Amino acid sequence: MKAMSKPSTRRTQKTTAADLVIVGGAGHVGLPLALVFAGKGLNVLVYDINDQAFPLIKQGKMPFMERGAAPLLQKVLAQGRLHFTANQSALSQVPIMIVTIGTPIDEFMNPNLQGMRDCFDALLPFISNEQLVILRSTVYPGTTDWLGSYMEAHGKHPLLAFCPERIMEGYAIEELQKFPQIISATTPEALERAAGFFLKIAPEVIRLKPMEAEFAKLFCNSFRYIQFAMANQFYMMANSAGLDFYRIFQAMKKDYPRMQGMPAAGFSAGPCLLKDTMQLTAFYNNEFSLGYTAMLVNEGLPLYLTDRLAHQYDLPNLRVGLMGMAFKANSDDPRSSLSYKLKKVLTFKAKEVLTTDPFVRGDTDLKPLSEVLEHSDLFILCAPHPQYKDLDFKGRPVVDIWNAYGKGAII
Ligand SMILES: NC(=O)c1ccc[n+]([C@@H]2O[C@H](COP(=O)([O-])OP(=O)(O)OC[C@H]3O[C@@H](n4cnc5c(N)ncnc54)[C@H](O)[C@@H]3O)[C@@H](O)[C@H]2O)c1
Repeated sequence: MKAMSKPSTRRTQKTTAADLVIVGGAGHVGLPLALVFAGKGLNVLVYDINDQAFPLIKQGKMPFMERGAAPLLQKVLAQGRLHFTANQSALSQVPIMIVTIGTPIDEFMNPNLQGMRDCFDALLPFISNEQLVILRSTVYPGTTDWLGSYMEAHGKHPLLAFCPERIMEGYAIEELQKFPQIISATTPEALERAAGFFLKIAPEVIRLKPMEAEFAKLFCNSFRYIQFAMANQFYMMANSAGLDFYRIFQAMKKDYPRMQGMPAAGFSAGPCLLKDTMQLTAFYNNEFSLGYTAMLVNEGLPLYLTDRLAHQYDLPNLRVGLMGMAFKANSDDPRSSLSYKLKKVLTFKAKEVLTTDPFVRGDTDLKPLSEVLEHSDLFILCAPHPQYKDLDFKGRPVVDIWNAYGKGAII
């Protein structure tokens, strides 16, 4: 009979060493990605400069809303598959590094590469030529090639890939495993390693060149942003003509396949769509006129609403209740939310602006829903959270640009 072999030390080390590290791993993109890879049995190291986020995550609690994430987090923590560090030296020896840090635009609406440069300046000493570095943040076209040259100039030649994140915030756990993954890389070897790696979670990979993949991501977001702008402009046009936009909208769509893709009107904002449209605009020498126009329309919607309300109501004597301060329904993310732009503009026009949201945390101005309901004379549904569906507004006007509950007033 063959003797049972003792587990080797090498094997024990392999199961405890990280298979990959996620840079920015406590963020909205990084953490769900970490969970999905850990859920597939990989050992994942979460590296983030914001180590204040770690204690909560280590307790099995998500720092933001993400469907299906909390049970998966608790499961992979219990399995010992998720580890945390704010010390970049822990990244050396980890074979795969995925970068998911924020890529904001600056005050001139131009891409700000400084964050990416600072990030890599800190990581370079711990990057080796054997590692696969995967850029996943949404980047300005050409960034992957720039990063390759930048690392080379510092004597580092890791395999380099760009594999954009295309999830809808809040649905990452499901979508990461459902949709094809676009992959690109600066060498065939890097491309094949990235392909094999993402096939652990995604059903299919689609190979592109780095700049094609960078464009693909930016085109996706700009396309959506422009679609929302069209709906918003049609809404404003119909509303200004004294018509109920949604009677027209429903008639246009009923049993008419060509219009099924048209979205409803609504605040189009959040951390990605405007920013990414502006990245393309900057790339195209400010001649991406559709993108610019979409920005004027979408960002102009709160101004339009305020103007219409000022003409129709005695705003200086009215308290306005803003319902939903997150950038979209069923989200706790207030980043770049147009609800806050509306609040700012209305504060100068109305007697008082009261705000509420069942999910957003950290905004000390927020009031309980009951208080806003009791004290407001007029309501604006900014983010159509389900909590607002069956409310009794007692005959007071409700502005519902989304037509979420069919209670909207023409203003
Ligand atoms: N939020 C989305 O739904 C979404 C979807 C697709 C793509 N993206 C893109 O993904 C990227 C990240 O977006 P996000 O919403 O997750 O941002 P986020 O701010 O939620 O997360 C970024 C994380 O990176 C960390 N970080 C910043 N600089 C760092 C550094 N130098 N080293 C280590 N950690 C660092 C931050 O502390 C934060 O935890 C952006 O490029 C964004 O455009 C976002």
